[in-house]
Amino acid sequence: MEQTELDQLLSKMTLDEKIDQLLQLTGEFFESEDVVTGPTSYLGLTQETVDLTGSSLNVVGAKKLNHIQKQYLEKNSHKIPLLFMADIINGYKTVFPIPLAQGCTFNPELVEKSAAVAAKESSASGLHVTFSPMVDLVRDPRWGRVMESTGEDTYLNGVLGRAMVRGYQGESLLESGTIASCVKHFAAYGAPAGGRDYNTVDLSERTLREDYLPAYKETIDEGCELVMTAFNTVDGIPATANKTLMNDILRGEWGFDGVLISDYAAIAELMTHGVADDEKEAARLAIEAGVDIDMMTSIYVKNLKRLVEEGVIPEKLINDSTMRVLQLKNKLGLFENPYRDASEELEKELLLCDDHRCLSREIAGESIVLLKNDGVLPLQKQNQKLAFIGPYVDNTSLSGLWSIHSDKETVVTVKQAVLDKIGEADVSFAKGCEILNPGVLIGGFGGEPTVGPNDSVAAQEDLKEALQLAEKADVVVLALGEHVVQSGEGGSRAEITLPEIQLDLLRKIHAVNHKIIVVLFNGRPLDLREVHEKASAVVEAWFPGTEGGHAVADVLFNDVNPSGKLSMSFPYSVGQIPIHYNMFNTGRPFKKGNEGNRFASRYTDIPNEAFYPFGFGLSYTSFEYFGLTLDKASMSSEEVLTASVTVKNTGAYTGKETVQLYIQDLVGSVVRPLKELKGFKKISLEPGEAQTVTFEITEEMLKFYTASKKWESEAGKFKVFIGPDSCIEDFVEFTLVK
Ligand code: GLC
Repeated sequence: MEQTELDQLLSKMTLDEKIDQLLQLTGEFFESEDVVTGPTSYLGLTQETVDLTGSSLNVVGAKKLNHIQKQYLEKNSHKIPLLFMADIINGYKTVFPIPLAQGCTFNPELVEKSAAVAAKESSASGLHVTFSPMVDLVRDPRWGRVMESTGEDTYLNGVLGRAMVRGYQGESLLESGTIASCVKHFAAYGAPAGGRDYNTVDLSERTLREDYLPAYKETIDEGCELVMTAFNTVDGIPATANKTLMNDILRGEWGFDGVLISDYAAIAELMTHGVADDEKEAARLAIEAGVDIDMMTSIYVKNLKRLVEEGVIPEKLINDSTMRVLQLKNKLGLFENPYRDASEELEKELLLCDDHRCLSREIAGESIVLLKNDGVLPLQKQNQKLAFIGPYVDNTSLSGLWSIHSDKETVVTVKQAVLDKIGEADVSFAKGCEILNPGVLIGGFGGEPTVGPNDSVAAQEDLKEALQLAEKADVVVLALGEHVVQSGEGGSRAEITLPEIQLDLLRKIHAVNHKIIVVLFNGRPLDLREVHEKASAVVEAWFPGTEGGHAVADVLFNDVNPSGKLSMSFPYSVGQIPIHYNMFNTGRPFKKGNEGNRFASRYTDIPNEAFYPFGFGLSYTSFEYFGLTLDKASMSSEEVLTASVTVKNTGAYTGKETVQLYIQDLVGSVVRPLKELKGFKKISLEPGEAQTVTFEITEEMLKFYTASKKWESEAGKFKVFIGPDSCIEDFVEFTLVK
């Protein structure tokens, strides 16, 4: 449709019909008539309202959605198609590693390909929009949703957020196999006080603009079609009613003219937060903040008309929001083809096809991070008695909490993958223990709560069998981890160690065999001090997705040389949080070797540094960096500085290395971080091969939110670091002359 036709359509719509386009309901409302009067009667919706709803969420499947769309259009006098949205966070039926793991690949090309596959599969199943990418900056692993982010670095989140938008949306949403993307959660949902989900976010404007906002803007500059509001407050005002965030920054400064959707029932929560006295006030606050779609409440449909008729809000606000929704539907080509890609034949061809599984296996392999290895890895494929023990040895729950549209039985377990790779000779398997301690209860995620099983007889049997196998093995591979519901939405934890029952298994196995490789399946950085102390090797596999077992086996047996680099710091203990690599120096920095100095910014009981730092990850080979140079010692704003370093593979295996560029601004009108990631390049080197890697440094890269509240650079000295992780100390200096 042309814009003029959309304008004509809008002009023919009644106020009720326009407002109904701003309502989003879950799928069950379209699958049976009695939902209105049944469990969701509290919403006070009429069937007529449901029949005019603008969009639906989290109902999937070509056959089902085509049926819903057909029925819906028959009732819609203007033939405005229904929009189908869902949480396709790390894949649809072919599930990829959780985003925190994808961040560890430092591979935007792979991340883009994964998003493109997710789009192909979900659009074949009738979906039009995904509630992804989530680019919330995360510095607190107590927060369960760190698993959905690509990590603690603003630059990395921006690069990978752009890659996901490209993957989902392709060149045009009129092309098949694409879906519109929705960046979330705007803004700064990743900074809740105490790491407690939905809690207050209280940041200075500088921290907000410097660290938390840029990644959202990157995705919008990449063409992301929708933005989702965050549950939290920002500067005392819930994001969903925050005019500064939505009108001034998002739509004003950034020029975003797409659809702004609330998070689930977030408009109703304006009353719970205490900024709206009643639903009418909540409706006003949200629509005035430019929120177009009301996800899963009836506040808009029950109050906006009254607000217009009473002259409290101009009808223009409704018209603008409705037009943005119509324009999104138009960009997707839904007026011409309301059924778009939805096809059962296409589903059969695409969902979980070999190519998609191969990609999932590839990106999972690159997301795995080798954190420790005393030489026990890689494993041999024969002549080694191997015992695979732990609750994650034969477990299909490898896809993370948001894999709600996938099927566990399609997941390859570690056990299956090992048998595929080396057969059953010389290898044994045992669960050893449950994931959770007996009786531990964790709230459900759309289902029943999870409770740690309490069968002491079975537990004793499991442990006994495991210890017998461990005693006889040359090497034990311990597959441990968090329960999948321990991370993700609502999954905040005050302690971040492995469940005690698993640490107990580690201790008992360590007592009979010191050759232990711990493979971890978890959704957040953990306190791994005891694991590190007792294990000969530590492999971080996160929740690797459908092909997770194969990817882990590929790495353990060196069919894939691990190359992952941490996208988020692992603290020594929860007491260090918030911890991230790009801290400020403070006026009293603690200097190693000066342990006697009490009056420094330090702990008396643990080090300041992360246990495993951002950007860190080992390989089976080794890399040497040398010859860090700049092509000039100073640069003007118009010039480009070239930094280069030579990297050599000094080990025995071909390996991939992510070469990381960090810059430090030594003096600014405000304090500046000790390091900031400003670039990275992932290279592959044969044994003995060396490659010179160069980075161009521009004035744009040196800009920050200065004391005068402008985004600009300031003249002065800078340090350039190029190395394997954020702990690199070698540097060269240059001066920016203005
Ligand atoms: C949830 C999440 C959000 C998700 C939405 C729809 O509460 O906060 O990330 O996209 O609801 O499921």
